[in-house]
Amino acid sequence: MKRIAILTAGGDTPALNATLFGAVQRANELDIEVYGLIKGFDGMLSERVPHVRLNPLFTTIPELDPCLGGSIIGSSRAYIDPEQTEVLKEVTSRLGRLGIQGLVCIGGDGTISGMQPLTEFFPCVLAPKTIDNDLGLNHIDEPNEWVRDETPDGFTYRHSHSRDEVGLGEIINYVTPGYATAVFVVAQSIERIRTTAESHRRIAIVEVMGRDSGSIALGAAYGQPDMILIPEVELDYPTIVSRVRELYDLQKHAVLVIGEGVRDSEGQLGARSNSFDPAGNILFTGAAERLADRLRSELGDSYFQKNRRHDDARSAVFTRKVGHTQRGGRPILFDRFHAAQLGGKAVELLSREQNNFLATLQYTESTGFTLSELSASKLRDRWGTIHAREVHPSLYSTRRFQPSELGREYLQPIFTHAIGHEDLEMLHARLFHPGNLVTRYQSFNIEIQKRIRTLDGSS
Ligand code: F6P
Repeated sequence: MKRIAILTAGGDTPALNATLFGAVQRANELDIEVYGLIKGFDGMLSERVPHVRLNPLFTTIPELDPCLGGSIIGSSRAYIDPEQTEVLKEVTSRLGRLGIQGLVCIGGDGTISGMQPLTEFFPCVLAPKTIDNDLGLNHIDEPNEWVRDETPDGFTYRHSHSRDEVGLGEIINYVTPGYATAVFVVAQSIERIRTTAESHRRIAIVEVMGRDSGSIALGAAYGQPDMILIPEVELDYPTIVSRVRELYDLQKHAVLVIGEGVRDSEGQLGARSNSFDPAGNILFTGAAERLADRLRSELGDSYFQKNRRHDDARSAVFTRKVGHTQRGGRPILFDRFHAAQLGGKAVELLSREQNNFLATLQYTESTGFTLSELSASKLRDRWGTIHAREVHPSLYSTRRFQPSELGREYLQPIFTHAIGHEDLEMLHARLFHPGNLVTRYQSFNIEIQKRIRTLDGSS
C-alpha cells in the first residue's frame, strides 16, 4: 500500500491524537502516505472530501502531538447507511480518485458497524478508542450468550451469562485508549466532592459516563466512593437505601457513584426521555437526579432533621455529573503509550490487507500488555449485532457495591503505573504558568485549517 486514509469517529477521547501519531509513525517506516479525513465519516460523505496530509515526505506534521487531547482531524457521529448503495459507490469513487488504497478508522463499536459496508469496496481496519471501555469481549464466546426477544416494535437483546468468572488473559481487548484518562478525571472529582459532602453532612451522587457499561464507574473505585452502582446490575432500592442509611449514620455523609446507564425494574433511569444522537445512540440524561429523588423520598425530611444535620432531604442529597471533562484534555501516560501502539498496529494490519480486522490490546500476568488482532466478525452475535462490552458479573461485588477481588485484579495492571512523571511535571509547569494570563489558547484547528485540501485540489 502506498496511500491510506485515516479518520476518527464517534465521541472524542483524550487519546485520539496519540493513536493518529502511532499510526503515522508506523506508516512513515513503511513508506505509506497517510491522509487524515476531516470529521470522521463526514469527510468522505462530502463531495469535496476535505483531508490533511499527515506525513508529507514521510515526516509527521508538527501539529500531530500525542500529548494533546481531542483529534486534530476532528470527529463526528456521522455514519454511512449500509442500505444506501449509491452513497457507498460515490464514497468509493471519491477515495479512489484520491488514490486511497485502504482506511484506518479510529473508533468504538459504532465505528466498526459504520466501517463494515465499506469493507466490501476496499480494506478497512479499526484502531480502538472509547472512554467507555466497552469495545471488546470478556471472553471469545461472549457474542453467543446474547438472546434476542421479539417485541411489538422489533427486538430487544438480553445477555445470558454462561460463565461465573473470566480469566484476565481471556479478555479480548483488555482496555481501550481513553478509558484510563477518563477514570483519572473521575477519581479526582470524587475526592473533591468527598470533602465538601463530608463538611456539609450531605449525600453526593456522582454520575459518570459509559452508556450501558459500568467500566468507568468501576474504575471510579480509585476515588474511594462509598458505593458504586453500575448499569449491569438492576438497582435494588431497599438494599441501597439501607446501605446509605448505615453510611450516613456512621460518617454523617456518603458518596455514591453511578454509571449514567443505571437501570431499575422499569428500565434505564437516564434513558426514559427516548432521545437519540445522530448515530442512533440513546442520550442518557438525569439518572443521578432520579436516584436522588428516590433517596430523598425514601429517607424523608425527618431523617435529616432529627440530628439537626439538614433542614430537609432536598438540601441533604445532591448530584454532580462529571460530564465532558472526563473525555477531554491531556491523555495520561497509559493512554498515550497504548493508543500509539494500537495506531501503529492498525497500519500494519492494513498494510497486510487484513480487511475488517481490529487491533487489540491483550493482557496476561506473565506477558503484561501485548498487541494482537481480531476479525471484526468475532465481535458479532448470531444476528450480526455488536454489543457494548459489559462489566462481567465476576468483576463487581453486588454485596459491597465495589469492584470484586477479580475486579481489583483487573484494574491494577491498567492504573498502578498509569500516570507518568511527565504528566505531573506538565501540571507543575503549565497550569499556573504566568503566560496563561496573557496568551490566548492556541487552537490546533487554526493551523490544521491551513493544511486542509479537497478532492478538486482547492484548499
Ligand atoms: O461514548 C462516549 C460517550 O462519552 C458516552 O460515555 C456518553 O454517553 C456519550 O459519549 C456522550 O455523547 P455526547 O458528547 O454526544 O453528548
